[in-house]
Amino acid sequence: MFLRSAALLTVLSLVSIVSVARAYDFGEPATPQEIEIWNIDVSPNGTGLPEGSGTAEHGKLVFVANCQACHGVNGQGGIGGRLVGGRGTLATAHPVKTVGSYWPYAATVFDYIHRAMPYPKPGSLSNDDYYAVTAYILNLNGIWPSNEKLDRTNLPKIKMPNRNGFIVFPEWRNWPNVNAWRGWPNN
Ligand code: HEC
Repeated sequence: MFLRSAALLTVLSLVSIVSVARAYDFGEPATPQEIEIWNIDVSPNGTGLPEGSGTAEHGKLVFVANCQACHGVNGQGGIGGRLVGGRGTLATAHPVKTVGSYWPYAATVFDYIHRAMPYPKPGSLSNDDYYAVTAYILNLNGIWPSNEKLDRTNLPKIKMPNRNGFIVFPEWRNWPNVNAWRGWPNN
């Protein structure tokens, strides 16, 4: 009896949610332009990287103006996390996780910064500035030269220092082609 009335209640509330939605006419199909704004994900292998390019030299200016207040001078940390250094500490009692010590793929560093930073205004910089500031953080970590332009072609080819420091979840291991499916480079 209890189960039956619970089921009835569920049906009734679903019906009422749908009718409220109809009554107030909220919700509408997203337009292709709206989807475009949100469709910015970048895979570890670089699929989805936008046009644009920038050097670490220019990225330093972008960083000072938009990032340093939180991440500190030279990305050494402040009210936002430290982005530089920590190599060789992950297996110690005091691991320091940074872009240089921890992140396995450069393409997803770009993706994260492009999607989420600068913290109060994510997405507010140009793609050129996002490439430049990514190049600057990689440069501070000794991963990218200061005056070479980073772009959608060379960024995914960077091999991050901790590239092989991650293991595939045991339950994923037997899935067919798991790396290709995730968009991960196989090397
Ligand atoms: C208002 C403060 C603030 C500003 C400005 C800011 N960040 Fe951040 N940033 C944060 C916080 C807080 C986090 C952690 C967010 C989380 O863990 O959810 C973060 C995380 C990050 C990370 C990931 C670090 C890691 O190892 O997990 C990167 C990379 C990063 N920010 C880069 C930038 C860049 C580049 C800029 C400038 C374009 C920037 N941030 C501007 C506050 C800020």
